[in-house]
Amino acid sequence: MTPKDLKAIVRTVPDFPAPGVQFRDITTLIGHGVGFAAAVGHLARLAQAAGAQAIAGMEARGFIFGAAVAVQLGVGFIPVRKPGKLPVATLGVDYVLEYGSDRLEIDPGAIAAGERVIIVDDLIATGGTALAAAALLRKAGAVVPTAIFAIDLPDLGGAAKLRADGIAVDALMQ
Ligand code: PRP
Ligand code: ADE
Repeated sequence: MTPKDLKAIVRTVPDFPAPGVQFRDITTLIGHGVGFAAAVGHLARLAQAAGAQAIAGMEARGFIFGAAVAVQLGVGFIPVRKPGKLPVATLGVDYVLEYGSDRLEIDPGAIAAGERVIIVDDLIATGGTALAAAALLRKAGAVVPTAIFAIDLPDLGGAAKLRADGIAVDALMQ
């Protein structure tokens, strides 16, 4: 399936989780076996072209795509977690979302110095989540050249912010 076919199976839910938000829901994409496999295949090709030595994905939706991409490439997966979940001393950062705020944490020991880590998530909106993840990964010693998403919401400006921070951005659909 092409990215255009995949776009047709993403569901849009108005006013979730807050009035005025058009929620782009991947439930319908990952529930479609052929569509999910095609999406992961496209993302994996982009991650491989970016020279991935490891994949980082953000809890929770980033785990779905990121782990699948890591398996396809045969590289490790670094979970970027919501607070209080990791059982070791973490590096953490607070960030703002399209509809709230949150915190991300990583295990600094999960990253080798100079490792080329590619960020994979389902969607980029304001870019707050991806910028926070990139900052954490870099603090732990990673090189973060590229971030890859199933969906980019360009009107929210996240991809432009990442590029301004020196991170190349790829997405399957807008
Ligand atoms: C969603 C999505 C991205 C982020 C994008 O995650 O999966 O990680 O928002 O928004 P941003 O570009 O404005 O930061 P959310 O925090 O809703 O958590 P979830 O994956 O647990 O649903
Ligand atoms: N995360 C942040 N903004 C979103 C949106 N509009 N749809 C789905 N996930 C999101």
